[in-house]
This record gives sequence, structure tokens and C-alpha cells, in this order.
Amino acid sequence: MGHGPAAVVLCAGKGTRMKSEQAKVLHPLLGRPLCAWPIAAAAEAGARPVVAVLGHQADDVRAAIKTQFASLEPRFAVQAQPLGTADAVRAAAAELRDASGSVLLLYGDTPLLTPATLRRLLDAQGSGRGPLALVSCVAVDPYGYGRLVREGGRVVRVVEERDASEAERRIVEVNAGVYAVDADFLWKALASLKPSNAQGEYYLTDVVALAAAQGEVAVVAADFEETAGVNDRVDLAACARELRRRINQAHMRAGVTLEDPDSTTIEGPVELAADVVLEAFVTLRGRTRVAEGARIGQGSVLSDVELGAQTEVRPYCVMEQSRVGARCVLGPFARLRPGSELAEGVHLGNFVETKKARIGKGSKANHLSYLGDAVLGAGVNVGAGTIICNYDGVAKHLTEVGDGVFIGSDTQLLAPVKVGEGAFIAAGTTVTEDVPADALALSRTPQVVKPGWARKRRERLKGKP
Ligand code: UD1
Ligand code: MG
Repeated sequence: MGHGPAAVVLCAGKGTRMKSEQAKVLHPLLGRPLCAWPIAAAAEAGARPVVAVLGHQADDVRAAIKTQFASLEPRFAVQAQPLGTADAVRAAAAELRDASGSVLLLYGDTPLLTPATLRRLLDAQGSGRGPLALVSCVAVDPYGYGRLVREGGRVVRVVEERDASEAERRIVEVNAGVYAVDADFLWKALASLKPSNAQGEYYLTDVVALAAAQGEVAVVAADFEETAGVNDRVDLAACARELRRRINQAHMRAGVTLEDPDSTTIEGPVELAADVVLEAFVTLRGRTRVAEGARIGQGSVLSDVELGAQTEVRPYCVMEQSRVGARCVLGPFARLRPGSELAEGVHLGNFVETKKARIGKGSKANHLSYLGDAVLGAGVNVGAGTIICNYDGVAKHLTEVGDGVFIGSDTQLLAPVKVGEGAFIAAGTTVTEDVPADALALSRTPQVVKPGWARKRRERLKGKP
């Protein structure tokens, strides 16, 4: 068995109040499914093994958790029917046969809990005089939460909203839904519960009264910013706001400027060096890494992008799965699709799209271009409106452009095609054959000039009755 306490995270419910086809615990919250947050907190607090209890959409939930926690090796148990939170914990018993000591119990819909609070909870249970410790919170609006009922100062039970009396509903000290319990006590207590309540469910909260009969229930107080549960989409948005705030603050304290943190979204294992500047409404996702001094302009969205030092991303760029070197200047309105690799000092201007394109040092494409399936050397100038025609309707083909090539505006390069170093492509050319190094390629109909023709036409048309 593992080192820390075991943990059980309840993820079997449907989440009726979400009014969704998708199970509540799968709803995305800052780039991860909702239930990944409490699982991560339990794992970080040292819990092993972590058992997720599945039920509604079990296969999807299991797959999502496995993707998120490959190295944690989570275990799974299935609750056949959603008979309540106590029944869900009971379903995990087989996976925890060998567990003794403390078990952490968490709900899959409380994403804000921190590992520090879970450790405080475990300490309180370990050093307390009873078999159970729980986390409480004083809620401004306790509606929907279980209330802590105290007698003579001691917690004696938890009563759910639907079962509470008028007086009990006025209690503002609520149950956060996370417990540390002695394993032997837990399995015996669960076996004795009855579903005698308004919902006809087996309530995990009824274990609290049984624990109070054996000794003092230890209560660890936490802020609502840590204990909020997600029952509907309003709660989900509120939790997203809180998580964003925490993540953004950590980056700011580590030396990143966020010009408008309330509008900044950073999700996933994003790494930002010191002196990076994020303007308003920037979204960074996945394995995005930004080196020192880079600036990301307003409204830009980067997923799995590496940005080199001092690179400037101007407003409204959308970039994914790409690598950008140092001192590049991109946008406004540049679009980097997967497999774009830009060397140092590349400039891509407005309405330039790249895909699987390797672009060499100092090359420039400043206006209205599509560069797909291409390798461009260093010092290439791509004129406005240049299109690499990479797709022939059946397959994609490669275009290679050597160092120092000048591509005039409104050029099409029909892949597969190669342009040798130092070649010059005249504006308006359709390149269908390879161009040797240092050559001129030109494919235009010769220009015709008829002096006075335009004036005569004007006069003819105006003279009409
Ligand atoms: C629960 C607590 C309440 C507490 C609140 C904190 C109970 C009876 N009540 O109420 O005291 O204040 O959380 O957020 O425990 N689940 C299952 N199987 C089931 C039912 C639920 O796995 O049969 C899972 C759900 O997926 C969810 C979690 O348990 O992740 C909590 O269920 P939910 O219905 O949201 O309970 P609350 O009404 O919020
Ligand atoms: Mg809930």
C-alpha cells in the first residue's frame, strides 16, 4: 500500500442542476475536467491510492481522469445506482480493502480545495479525539449546503438543506464536503446508514452524527474561496474566476506583467519567464512556454506554443502547436497553425497564415499570405498576397525556398516546387516548375498600353443620352 492516506473522490453523480447532456464532473474548468481539480489536490496532499467513484457516464469520466493523471495511476470503482454520497463511498470499499488509518473523502465538484487545507484536515483527524474531521466554512449564502448542527459547542450532525428545519436553515456554518476519517470506523458506519431523508438517499453526512457519538468531530475552518461546490453553471463560472485569479497572481508574483488580470486566462502547465508582458484578453493554454521579455498582444490565443525571448506578438494572433524563435514580430492578426517553426527574427504580418512551415532567420511575410507545408530559408522576402498552393485536391506537397529568395507580391507557388537560393520571383507569377538559384522567374502576359484610351471611353459613356 502507498505512503499517505488513501483518498476517495466521488464522481458518480449526474449533476442534474447543470441541465446538461454531459456529466457534471466532466464540465471543463480552466482546461481540465471539473473532477481533476479535487483529484489533483488530494494527490498533492500525498494521498495514495486515489480512488475515483464512477457512475453516470462512467467510461467517459474514467478516460478523462486517466488522461489527466497518467503517472498517478488512479484506481476506479463503480457505483451502480446513484443512491447517494454514502453509497458512492461504499462502492470504493473493495478498492481500499488494504487501507488502514485515515481515508480522505472528497466530492468531485469542489475544485477550489488546496492541498494545504487537506493536510490540515488530516492532521486534525490524526491528532483529534474522534474518528472524523471535516472542513467547514461560513457561507454568506448557505443555500444548498449541509449545515453543521452544534450542541454545547460540539458538532453533533450535519443536516441537508431539504431536511433542515426553519431554524437549521438559518445556520451559516456549512459542510464543505471533505472529510478525513478512520478507515475501520468508516466501513462500519457506512454499513449502518439508512436512506431516511427527503431525497431517499444514503447521505455521507450521516456518518458525522455517528462519529460525534464516538468522540469529538474535529472541524477545520476554510474560506468560501476554497470550499465552494459546483452544482450549476453559475457556480462553475464563479470557480473558474477564483482559479484564474490564483494562477494569474502566482505568475505576477513570479515577475510576469498582466496588464488586465481579470481578462487573462492561463490554463494548463503554461510557463512564463520574468518580464513577459500579457496585454488584456490574452488566453494561454497547454504546454505554452514564453521566454523572457516577450510581449503578447491583446486578444491573442496561444495553445502549445513556444515563444522566444523578446518576441512581440501584436494583438489578435491565434497560434497553436508552434515554435517561434527570439526577436520575432508577429501580427496583428497572424495565424500560426500546427507545425509552424520560426527561426530568430522572423516577421509575419497581418492576415498571414502558416501551417507546417519552417521559416529561416530574418525572413519576412508581412501581408496576406498562406504558407503551408513549406521550408523557407533565411532572409526570404515573401511579398503581399503570396499563396503556397500545397494541396492538389488529393494530397499535400512540399515547397522549398532557398536563402535570400525574393518573392514578389501576388505569387502562387504550386507544390511540389523548389526555388533555389537568391532567386527572384516577379510579382504576379504562378510558379509551376523549379526555379534555379539566382534566376528570375516570371509568368505574366506582356503589358499592353493604349495611350488616351481611358479618356475616350469616359467621354463616350458620358456623351450618351
Ligand atoms: C453535498 C453534501 C452537503 C455539502 C455539499 C458541499 C451530502 C448528502 N451532502 O451536497 O452536506 O454541503 O455537498 O458541496 O453528501 N455523488 C456520487 N454518487 C451519488 C451522489 C453524488 O458520486 O449517488 C457525487 C457527485 O458526483 C458529486 C458529489 O458526490 O461530485 C456531491 O454530490 P452533490 O449531489 O453535488 O451533493 P450536494 O447536494 O452538493
Ligand atoms: Mg455538490
